[in-house]
Amino acid sequence: MAARDPHRFVNDLDDEAIDRLITRLESRAKDGVFTNLIEKYSSQLLRANPAQVLEVGCGTGAMIRSLVRREEFTGSAVGVDQSIPFIKAAKALAQQEFIDERLEFRTGDAHHLEFPSAGFDTVIANTLISHVTDPVRVLEEMARVVKSGGTVVIFDGDYSSLTYAFPDYDFGCQMDSALANASFCNPRIMRELPGMLADIGLQLKTAWGDAVVEIGKASYFKSFAETYAPYVSSSGLMTAGEVEHWLSVQQQAMESETFFAACNYYTYLLGRA
Ligand SMILES: C[S@@+](CC[C@H](N)C(=O)[O-])C[C@H]1O[C@@H](n2cnc3c(N)ncnc32)[C@H](O)[C@@H]1O
Repeated sequence: MAARDPHRFVNDLDDEAIDRLITRLESRAKDGVFTNLIEKYSSQLLRANPAQVLEVGCGTGAMIRSLVRREEFTGSAVGVDQSIPFIKAAKALAQQEFIDERLEFRTGDAHHLEFPSAGFDTVIANTLISHVTDPVRVLEEMARVVKSGGTVVIFDGDYSSLTYAFPDYDFGCQMDSALANASFCNPRIMRELPGMLADIGLQLKTAWGDAVVEIGKASYFKSFAETYAPYVSSSGLMTAGEVEHWLSVQQQAMESETFFAACNYYTYLLGRA
């Protein structure tokens, strides 16, 4: 069976798999490793005092909720995602956090945004672009709905750099590559982005990279491995026995605090050309 990015095909998953992804999205958003990366670009965005913000592929709304909760944010925001259960969870969480009056969630497809042109000051794709069927089309839609002078944010991992230490080097490389290919439609999109922008009518304002690294103890990459390794065997890239063996070696490394994993993440702030 071919690799099937679970976030791309989220609407084909059963309830248990959806619940696991909801748990992963919410736990990732609370992990210090991840909050630091989001904080870095959110604080830049807030300096421009955006009145209308859109997050495309918002999942459970973890990123956009964190932006709306901030004191400095005085505008309103909309989150769009293709998954009905994710949007349902997003609405419930926004209500619990008493931010639902300034934050709306809707189902929709990132390839065909149901918004008029030039309506938003900021349009964000937070770990969306690696999962979509047609990244160019999604970027064109983001460019269309952002105001002239506004900002498009593309934040995602470069999953060809994803690596877990493993005693057998070849096997470890095979599993790293299988994990990237089973979990992401476009694992290398963040290194391809600079060459795509001009044709889309976007220009680079600024960009930077962060290495996410866990050494000794694991939290971010523990949850990543446990959530996504099962898709490596279900997509036939490696056998269930091989994936189980790899997971047990990672588990032992976590227990003995000899763990190592890393991945590069990139943030692009773009404007309309
Ligand atoms: C890794 S999650 C990120 C969720 C959220 N941005 C966050 O950072 O927590 C990727 C999300 O993209 C959504 N997605 C993938 N393809 C989509 C599409 N074509 N239209 C809308 N949402 C899409 C998935 O449903 C999933 O919620």
